[in-house]
Amino acid sequence: MAEQGKGTSYISGKESRRITRFNRRVTRKLEKQRADASKDPKLYTTKMEDPENIVEFDNVCTYFFSDVGVVKAVDGVNFQVPRHSTVGIVGESGCGKSVTSLSLMQLLQRPSGQTVGGEIRFNKGDGSAYNIVNTPNSIMEKIRGNQISMIFQEPMTALNPVFRIGEQIDEVIELHNPDMTEEKVKARSLEMLDMVGIANKEGVYNMYPHELSGGMRQRICIAIALACSPSLIIADEPTTALDVTIQAQILDLLQNLKDRLQSSIMLITHDLGVVAGMADYVVVMYAGRVVEKGTAEEIFHHPAHPYTIGLMKSKPVVGQKVDKLYNIPGSVPNPVAMPDYCYFRDRCEMQCARCSGKYPPEIRISGTHVVSCWRYMEEGKVLGYPKSVDVSTL
Ligand SMILES: Nc1ncnc2c1ncn2[C@@H]1O[C@H](COP(=O)(O)OP(=O)(O)OP(=O)(O)O)[C@@H](O)[C@H]1O
Ligand code: SF4
Ligand SMILES: [Mg+2]
Repeated sequence: MAEQGKGTSYISGKESRRITRFNRRVTRKLEKQRADASKDPKLYTTKMEDPENIVEFDNVCTYFFSDVGVVKAVDGVNFQVPRHSTVGIVGESGCGKSVTSLSLMQLLQRPSGQTVGGEIRFNKGDGSAYNIVNTPNSIMEKIRGNQISMIFQEPMTALNPVFRIGEQIDEVIELHNPDMTEEKVKARSLEMLDMVGIANKEGVYNMYPHELSGGMRQRICIAIALACSPSLIIADEPTTALDVTIQAQILDLLQNLKDRLQSSIMLITHDLGVVAGMADYVVVMYAGRVVEKGTAEEIFHHPAHPYTIGLMKSKPVVGQKVDKLYNIPGSVPNPVAMPDYCYFRDRCEMQCARCSGKYPPEIRISGTHVVSCWRYMEEGKVLGYPKSVDVSTL
């Protein structure tokens, strides 16, 4: 939308003022629509397409109305998280993994960040669902930390440095269980410390975050996230800040606790090794869209999309000697001005004549395996095209 000079990101003063006016008008309107919708339970209550799923993302579009134009960070994303399963979300930096999870938690930076299209259905347990996009904040406060919780990448910044560990776990339990006595809250906090494998639980309960190692801090973050037995845990790069041996311990712990609490995990990472070891299903994202999804076996052993094939090729293999590790040529297109054709085309080594046409549809190539690539047009069933929102109509 920005009137930019050829090959540059220059925006004239006039264009910049026009973008600011447009952003102000649209975000005000969207905020008002959301406030109105959140007053009417009919507008934020819906039904799960499949009651066996805990979350369904249905053509979700989350855009940022930024100073340089509209960034379509998540644009027509479709995938499900089945109950009691781990779904890995992979893709290179900036492809929209975190924005997808923040949309589910309603933690986007507003008013500039807005979910402008689609539905995010969160199962209430009986097949009926909240459409998170319109759910009022008063209900979101009960869902966050209680039914859906999040573990972040950097455990030091996720914990408050001025409060003792015990106080920070107690706070979450008290918030969601206002009738619990102080003794019971403390007992539950100690139980959680025990569950996440902290040996000296009474001692750690009284410590500050800086007195713990990185691995211990991440265990505390997991204890806080799981204190209310959530039905969905979002782990956004949970082990990136930790060394490899601690990484394996934390992932094992997360997987064990998930089974014990009968939760599901949405595991966001760019580390394919982590996903391979843990996930039941894998969703591959590229430039704000899902390009392939399927079981971990399908994605790792039979990748179909040229981007996924490239990701697999760029992974080092133990015992295999190579002079130079493969890397996918080129870079992701400018998020403010996405092309009309396949977003991967300019980097794709397998493109054909059809690839210059419109963006490819989602094609089912087996019961669980779906890919967005023209090469599979004859081999599978077309499910539909991702639905982008035309911002000029907002
Ligand atoms: N607050 C914001 N304002 C404007 N644009 C944003 C904002 N937050 C994210 N974006 C844009 O949205 C896109 C997706 O970002 P996101 O954080 O989801 O990437 P990611 O896949 O999680 O990457 P990483 O692996 O580096 O964490 C990026 O182009 C980013 O620049
Ligand atoms: S649609 Fe064409 S350009 Fe896009 S990934 Fe498939 S083969 Fe490559
Ligand atoms: Mg991220």
